[in-house]
Amino acid sequence: MKRNILITGGAGFIGSHVVRLFVKNYPEYNIFNMDKLTYAGNLANLTDIEEASNYHFLKEDICDYEKIRNIIAGNDIDGIIHLAAESHVDRSIKDPLVFAQTNVMGTLSLLQAAKETWNGNYDGKIFYHISTDEVYGTLDFDGTFFTEETAYDPHSPYSASKASSDHFVRAYHDTYGIPVIVTNCSNNYGPYQFPEKLIPLFINNIRHSRPLPVYGKGENVRDWLYVEDHARAIDLIFHKGKVGETYNIGGFNEWKNIDLIKVIIKTVDKLLGNPEGKSLSLITYVTDRAGHDLRYAIDSSKLKHELGWEPSLQFEEGIEKTVRWYLENQQWLDNVTSGEYEKYYEKMYKI
Ligand code: NAD
Ligand code: TYD
Repeated sequence: MKRNILITGGAGFIGSHVVRLFVKNYPEYNIFNMDKLTYAGNLANLTDIEEASNYHFLKEDICDYEKIRNIIAGNDIDGIIHLAAESHVDRSIKDPLVFAQTNVMGTLSLLQAAKETWNGNYDGKIFYHISTDEVYGTLDFDGTFFTEETAYDPHSPYSASKASSDHFVRAYHDTYGIPVIVTNCSNNYGPYQFPEKLIPLFINNIRHSRPLPVYGKGENVRDWLYVEDHARAIDLIFHKGKVGETYNIGGFNEWKNIDLIKVIIKTVDKLLGNPEGKSLSLITYVTDRAGHDLRYAIDSSKLKHELGWEPSLQFEEGIEKTVRWYLENQQWLDNVTSGEYEKYYEKMYKI
């Protein structure tokens, strides 16, 4: 069946994996990647599919309501997968306003544009909103998990903005009947992640023998999922998920930060041919993040039981694959850390 799908934020980390998967797996679909190309958007993440005939890139801002409406109407868009967002907790602490603008107002503009364009004809339409487990707040070390029924309790400006956008998505379903699905996923890792996030930052710092800033005592726990497993879940839920439902996505893969960091050090040292333990001395404990959530852990059993999804990679395999990718793609990393990739767009789009 032919479909016209709008993916927002497709030049970012997770979005680029989702775009690649859809472009490759569904040659009969038209895939429109709409991205503003903020500091986090990088078209170099998509060079392998940019020439595909079913792929179309649109450099637009999700806050620009009129433009989005024209894009949805002009391309007969019947599916929206919404990933565009400001996504880094530390940036949200320094500059919360842009998080409200992009994550809340941007999502609202997109919802309103879909509502106005679809105009009550919701047959075969879907608005799929990608969210985070951080909206649920934080857990103790008591073996409990976030389920789809856990009450929202966001603590950072990032998670507060994502929680607000989730509420708007559900409100558009309840009020106007827009067919929506929301998924809340745990921390992703893998290729093409912007190196301000823990895993790529630390791989790059070890490579350059720079300090590894561990917040607080390194005791916070995150639940890590390989990004391609998330993209596979998104594909499955987009096609088979039930309208109006929420699905949690996670790897049942909890790691205390300091233990994860030691695995990263071990893997990088091994692949660089360094003596085991060489880079342990780079660990530097720094002031804790304000409002740092202690523990995230997702119960994704609903997704497993209803749609049969499970993570495919063991963590040890995923982390080795990831470290290897960053070491083999040093040019990608250097272009991102030097800001070179932004100059490329300035030339390309005259911005
Ligand atoms: P990212 O920061 O790597 O990418 C975000 C993308 O959105 C970038 O390409 C950026 O240019 C684009 N963007 C930002 N503002 C925009 C705007 N106003 N208009 C159009 N495009 C804009 O983020 P990511 O890590 O890939 O996360 C993608 C989505 O998944 C986000 O909604 C995030 O909340 C969610 N999520 C992320 C994780 C994670 O671990 N990274 C986990 C769960 C959920
Ligand atoms: P991050 O990758 O920013 O994801 P999130 O905050 O969305 O979970 O951080 C993952 C964990 O690593 C989080 O507990 C904060 C911690 N952290 C550090 O200790 N040092 C760092 O330099 C960074 C970026 C994160």
